[in-house]
Amino acid sequence: MNITLTKPFILRCFIVSLLLSLPFFLFLILLLLSPQQHYRHVSIATTGNDNLRIRPGYSSYDAYIQRQLNKTLNPRLRKIWTTRDWDRKIPVFARFFEDLKEKKLLQKGSKALCVGARVGQEVEALRRVGVSDSIGMDLVPYPPLVVKGDFHNQPFDNGTFDFEFSNVFDHALYPERFVGEIERTLKPNGVCVLHVALSRRADKYSANDLYSVDPLLTLFNHSALVHVRAVDGFGLDTEVAFRKNTLG
Ligand SMILES: C[S@@+](CC[C@H](N)C(=O)[O-])C[C@H]1O[C@@H](n2cnc3c(N)ncnc32)[C@H](O)[C@@H]1O
Repeated sequence: MNITLTKPFILRCFIVSLLLSLPFFLFLILLLLSPQQHYRHVSIATTGNDNLRIRPGYSSYDAYIQRQLNKTLNPRLRKIWTTRDWDRKIPVFARFFEDLKEKKLLQKGSKALCVGARVGQEVEALRRVGVSDSIGMDLVPYPPLVVKGDFHNQPFDNGTFDFEFSNVFDHALYPERFVGEIERTLKPNGVCVLHVALSRRADKYSANDLYSVDPLLTLFNHSALVHVRAVDGFGLDTEVAFRKNTLG
């Protein structure tokens, strides 16, 4: 077969091959722009540490929120959390907070926030140890103890709280936002106490896995480490306390 390579022929071949490869390039662009890819990259790049890994499998932010809500809104579980678990967990939280008071990290006059407080057991515990100006925040409100809010974008002004407690770091899809929001809403010199699991994997609703405290030291870049100690907090084994710098 004799094919003459004229200019129009070459041009037609070029256009046809361009059209044929278009779906591939579109697919590549969509893959690169998908939110999950983006955030996974951001998290690892920001912490610069393989000791904090974002779990794969969330196709979008909505999918992540929906997964959290599936458990938090479960009526059978909410019944248990507000009855049987209520009396079991509050005294344990209260002991943690008494201890933090003894260490002068928490005062009766502190304005306190519990991040990811679900039905507010830790808020009730704070109030029982005399920290009356305490509130919780969760995706689902539970008045009067817990207001609605996303910990990646807290509904509070800068410098609102003296003290923030959270045992839900593992639920953060964007750990740098989770910590950034705590540092933003703490007053200068304010204290943040986290309970985290280092020696075992947290539950199936977790969005990240933490293997050492090092990533937390990197993320809390406007705070100083106060202490790291072993605790027995409902499957969470380590308490890490930070104090926000005076200059914010
Ligand atoms: C393991 S539970 C802990 C509940 C509570 N702190 C306790 O110890 O009883 C995790 C909580 O984090 C909440 N949560 C998950 N993602 C959240 C988000 N992006 N913003 C606020 N709360 C969130 C869930 O709704 C759930 O109530």
